[in-house]
Amino acid sequence: MYVSQCLLISATVVLGSSSPGHISFVQRQAALFQTGVNGNSESAPSTAKKATCEVPLSKQACKDAAKAYGYTWDGTRSWSDRLPGCLKTKLDNHINWNFNEAGADQHADQTAFCAHPFEGACAGLYMGTPPSDHEPAPDPTEYGEALKALDLEAVKADMVELLTKSDACWPADYGNYGPFFVRLAWHCAGTYRDTDGKGGCGGGRQRFEPERSWPDNTNLDKARALLTPIKQKYGIGLSWGDLFVLAGTTALRSMGAPIKEYCAGRIDDENGEKSLPLGPSEVQEQVAPCTGEPRDCQKDSTSTNLSTTTLGLIYVDPEGPLGDPDPAKSAKEIRITFSKMTGNNDRSTVALIGGGHAFGKTHGPCPHKDEFAHARAGLSPDEVFGNDGSFEKQIPWKGLCGTGHGDDTYTSGFHGPWTSTPTKWSNEFFTYLLNYEWEKYKGPGGHWQWRMKDNANDERIRLTSDIALLHDDAYKNIVIEFAQNQTALDEAFDFAWTRLTTNGGEWSPNKKCDEP
Ligand code: HEM
Repeated sequence: MYVSQCLLISATVVLGSSSPGHISFVQRQAALFQTGVNGNSESAPSTAKKATCEVPLSKQACKDAAKAYGYTWDGTRSWSDRLPGCLKTKLDNHINWNFNEAGADQHADQTAFCAHPFEGACAGLYMGTPPSDHEPAPDPTEYGEALKALDLEAVKADMVELLTKSDACWPADYGNYGPFFVRLAWHCAGTYRDTDGKGGCGGGRQRFEPERSWPDNTNLDKARALLTPIKQKYGIGLSWGDLFVLAGTTALRSMGAPIKEYCAGRIDDENGEKSLPLGPSEVQEQVAPCTGEPRDCQKDSTSTNLSTTTLGLIYVDPEGPLGDPDPAKSAKEIRITFSKMTGNNDRSTVALIGGGHAFGKTHGPCPHKDEFAHARAGLSPDEVFGNDGSFEKQIPWKGLCGTGHGDDTYTSGFHGPWTSTPTKWSNEFFTYLLNYEWEKYKGPGGHWQWRMKDNANDERIRLTSDIALLHDDAYKNIVIEFAQNQTALDEAFDFAWTRLTTNGGEWSPNKKCDEP
């Protein structure tokens, strides 16, 4: 089995100091090495250890630093250095690299893994979703200092530019990554629960197990990959947690949603340990068990800290409880989970669901053939990488429907947009919800979804959890208000989004916000 571990080497070593000594994260970050011990680790002699220099330094600096720690530099200096080499070899699985002292690459014994094993995968995939399931995080003090120096306006400008780019590895729907990034931020922040304060986007733990393999987070590895160049450009001053929320907030603003304030300062974690209480895990079974029947976790909502109705979902089943397309039952689930999530009142709940679904679309263009709703999406990161950091099978969520991306993307198995302007902020979700009669039908992905009864060919859809907002008097009154009053929706959504995305996690004392 491949074993990886991170060796952090100080810049002082790089510059020739004989003692690695006490080193700061910034210094360490300057020469981050990823090491690969021989594939057959049990029998691997320690001298066979190779190190990969993760950031662009001079060849000599990388070599010296590796030597100081008894490693041999594997010859690569950055992910981008490795990428062309990996693709060039056209091997269909992970590649074992061996580099000699001079840095010449030879495909030989088992050493470091190939950073980009499959042609077509997004280049930043393994940074946003580390196969080893952990990633060193900066010391909070050093992060705080770097945060002070971070040019937030420059990051936002780069983000705006990224939104309307479309990478062949994951083509953007409607030529805009905005809706995809809103979903990323919502799924990152929506894990927060008031019951015991667990979850939230602070920590950036969506990169790790268990969150990254939740069915609800299908294909978000691509969103994280697409954001990686911005993370690389701004370094430790831009935490992953801040990056994910900023992606959603910038997307919302660029599409017209009036979000007044964004704050940075979420301290990253180095693994997913703090998400274990969210489940599925033994820790979760202890601190927040499912109290209902299997998969139905909220039979008695006050007896569990758990917020979701189904493990791995954020937070209710879109099709209705356990796939039963009953909007009234779905409304009950929504009230339980959204109020446990951030203490959302009905107004915030309705604003978030209908405001969020002003944008984007659901993805499920071809039927799944077995009981697993996500079978067409491919294997989760957990299934691909295993627990030991090996990744022998394929890329996560590879997509088994047609080409696997673009029009063939399979994510939730529902199919269609909510509005006629999926990249523009509006209250159309509410006006159409209210003014048309909706009927349920099985979509192309084989799930119950809803269409306009008198306009069955219109591609706009609703989920059972959207229709639910008409099947509860208090929710319905708010739907009516938002359908009639765009400003009321603007204000309620801004308030709810800001609270949603600032809940939980640890914050730097140097937290900073942009101009309201
Ligand atoms: C009852 C709660 C919710 C449920 C059950 C739900 C369910 C879903 C589902 C099934 C999808 C389709 C995923 C896919 O196939 O790509 C989706 C997409 C989306 N959701 Fe939600 N959602 C909920 C709340 C929210 C909230 C609160 C927001 C944001 C404020 C939001 C924003 C979005 C966006 C922007 C997309 C489109 C993503 C894209 O176009 O790639 N959702 N949601």
